[in-house]
Amino acid sequence: MAYITWKSTFEIGFSEIDEQHKIYINLLNELHEAQSKGTSQHVIKEALANFLDYTHYHFDTEEKLFKQYDYPLAEEHLEEHSYFIDKVKKFQLNSQKNDLLLSLKTIDFLKDWTINHILGTDQQFSDFIRLRELGEIN
Ligand SMILES: [Fe+2]
Repeated sequence: MAYITWKSTFEIGFSEIDEQHKIYINLLNELHEAQSKGTSQHVIKEALANFLDYTHYHFDTEEKLFKQYDYPLAEEHLEEHSYFIDKVKKFQLNSQKNDLLLSLKTIDFLKDWTINHILGTDQQFSDFIRLRELGEIN
């Protein structure tokens, strides 16, 4: 069974972001699989690098949308993104430096942060777009 199973409650109602979130969850599942199977350090590093690359790509997509929609909570949202990028980079650096395998605790942290972020901060952004499109906010 997958580490994280995609649920409809993860959908924020903005299809471009929802599609990216599905890919994102898959990358987390791959990372977890590499870690739990005790795969070689090289494979785990590659999975972590893929995860970091996609994190940049995905956050960029969201950040362009903030500009496009003149999102008033962009700054707070950006802070969450940079906090997470810093964390992932730190994990990457530590695993390179000490040649340690990524711990399950670390992967659980990535999972918990991601799900909380999708359900909270990303949902809030999608709600804003919906209200704006309905003409309820300017
Ligand atoms: Fe986000």
